[in-house]
Amino acid sequence: MSNTQSYDLVVLGGGPGGYTAAFRGADLGLDVCLVEKHSRLGGVCLNVGCIPSKTLLHGAAVIEQAREIADFGITYNDPKIDLEAMRAKKEAIVGKLTDGLDGLAKARKVTRLVGSGIFEDEKTIKISGEEGQSRVSFKHAIIATGSRPFIIPGLPEDDRIWDSTTALELREVPERLLVIGGGIIGLEMAQVYSALGSEITIVEMLDHIIPPADKDVVQPLYQKLKKSYTLLTKTKVTGVESHKKGLKARIETQNGEEDREFDAILVAVGRRPNSEDIGLEKIGVKTTDRGYIEVNEQQRTSIDTIFAIGDVVGEPMLAHKATHQGKVAAEVASGRKAAFAALTVPSVAYTRPEVSWMGLTEKEAKEQNIAYDKGKFSWGASGRALSAGAAIGTSKVLFSKETGRIIGAAICGENSGELIHEAVLALEMGADAEDISKTIHAHPTLSETFAFACEMVDGSITDGLPPKKK
Ligand code: FAD
Ligand code: NAI
Repeated sequence: MSNTQSYDLVVLGGGPGGYTAAFRGADLGLDVCLVEKHSRLGGVCLNVGCIPSKTLLHGAAVIEQAREIADFGITYNDPKIDLEAMRAKKEAIVGKLTDGLDGLAKARKVTRLVGSGIFEDEKTIKISGEEGQSRVSFKHAIIATGSRPFIIPGLPEDDRIWDSTTALELREVPERLLVIGGGIIGLEMAQVYSALGSEITIVEMLDHIIPPADKDVVQPLYQKLKKSYTLLTKTKVTGVESHKKGLKARIETQNGEEDREFDAILVAVGRRPNSEDIGLEKIGVKTTDRGYIEVNEQQRTSIDTIFAIGDVVGEPMLAHKATHQGKVAAEVASGRKAAFAALTVPSVAYTRPEVSWMGLTEKEAKEQNIAYDKGKFSWGASGRALSAGAAIGTSKVLFSKETGRIIGAAICGENSGELIHEAVLALEMGADAEDISKTIHAHPTLSETFAFACEMVDGSITDGLPPKKK
C-alpha cells in the first residue's frame, strides 16, 4: 500500500453533493481530494437519475404533444422509435455533463481518486480500486455516498424485474409493464414507456399517487393518466412468480386478490442510504434507525470534523438539496459561518402535467393546526394555458392567517417545475398575498395562474368570479 497522502478536505462520493462540496472547498482555498467509486463523476443524478430520465421524458413529451396537436388541426404520422438512437442521445448528454465535471475538477486542482472508500479511523480513509489500495488522511471529511433503490424482499431473481437504473437502460419496450410504487420514479418512467408503446399498470399502496403532495393538486395528473393507464391505489403486490412467458403478479386491492401477467416489472418504492460498508460503526458516526447519517444544521455528524450531505442524510432525496448542503459543509470546513437553513426544498415530478410543490402542503398545515387562507386557480380559465394546449392544471397557494405570509404553494401543469420558484422566492422573502398580487406578471403567461391564486386571497381577483367579502 502506498504512502498516506494528507489533505485539508476529503470528500467521499462524487455525486451532486460530493462534487459541489469538493469544488466549493477548493474555491475557498482548501487542498481537496474527491474519492469516487466510479470513473465518472456525477453520481446517481447525472449517470442514472435526473439527467437520463429527463432526456427520455423529453422524447416522451414530444410524442404526446405531436398527438395532442391534432386538436389544433395539425396531424403527424405515428412516430418511428429508434431505441438505439435514443440510448445514444441519452449517453451523449450524460457524457457531455460528466466530462464537463472532469474539467471543472481539474481547473480547481481537486485530486481525484477512483475507488471505494472506507473510514479506518477519525482521520483516515482507505481506498480500494482497480489499481490497488491507498490511504488518505484529512483535517475534515464530507460523506456524500448517496442512496440506492430499495428492494422489495422476496421477489424472484429475474432480469425482467427492474429498478430505475435498469428502466433507464431502455433495453426493450415490454408490452405490459407493471410499476410498483406511484411515486416520482414510478410515474416518470411509466410516462416514458407508455409513450414508447407499453401498456402500463401502476400499483400504489397509499390512497393517491405522489403521496407527499396534496391530493387535489395531483388530481389533474391522475385524471389524465387514468385514461391510458391502469392505476390502482390502496393496492399492494403480495408476490411475483417468474414464468417463461411472463411474470405473474399477485395483486391485493381493497376488493380482494387477483393474479395478473406482465412482461416486465419496475420496482420504484423508494431509496435507502449508502451508509453501510463505509466504516461508520468503527469511528462512531451516528445513524438513525433507517440508516441515515445524523447531522446538525452545519452538516456536522456526531464527529465534529466529519460532515455528511445529500441522500445519505435523509429526505428529501433531491439533487438540489445535496448541492446546497455540500456548499454548507465545505464552507464550514473552511472556517466560514454557514448553515443549511433553507425554508423549503422544492419538489418537482416531471410528469405531464408536471407536479411541483414547496413549503407546507395543505395536509401538513391542517396536521400542524396552522390557520391559513387558500387561493386556487384552475388552468382551464387561463388564456395562456388554453392557447398552449395546457389547460389541465391548477395553481394553489396558502398564506398564514396569523402573519399574512405565504407558507406553501403547489402547481400542477405544463412547466410547473419552472413556475414553482416564484413561490420559493416569495417564501424566502416573506411575501404576502398583496406583494405577489401587485407584482406585475406578463400576459398571457402560465405564471399568471400563480398570481391569480394569490389575488384570490388578496381579494383583488378580476380574472374570476368576484372575491368573497372579508
Ligand atoms: P449520489 O448522487 O447517490 O452520489 C453518491 C456517489 O457516491 C455515487 O457516485 C457513488 O458511486 C459514490 N459512492 C458511494 N459509496 C462510495 C464509497 N464507499 N466510496 C466512493 N464512492 C462512493 N433528484 C432531483 O433533484 N431531480 C430529479 O429530476 C431527479 N431525478 C431522479 C431520477 C431517478 C431515476 C433517480 C434514481 C433519482 C433522481 N433524483 C432526482 C434524485 C437524485 O439523483 C439524488 O437526490 C442525488 O443524486 C443525490 O446526490 P448525492 O450526492 O447525495 O448522492
Ligand atoms: P418515492 O418515495 O417517491 O415513491 C415511492 C412510492 O411507492 C410511494 O408513493 C409509496 O407509497 C409507494 N410504495 C412503497 N412501497 C410500496 C409497495 N410495497 N407497493 C406499492 N407501493 C409502494 O420513491 P421513488 O419513486 O422510488 O423515488 C425515490 C426518490 O428519488 C424520490 O423520493 C426522490 O427523492 C428521488 N427522485 C426525484 C425525482 C425528481 O425530483 N423529479 C425523480 C425521481 C426520483
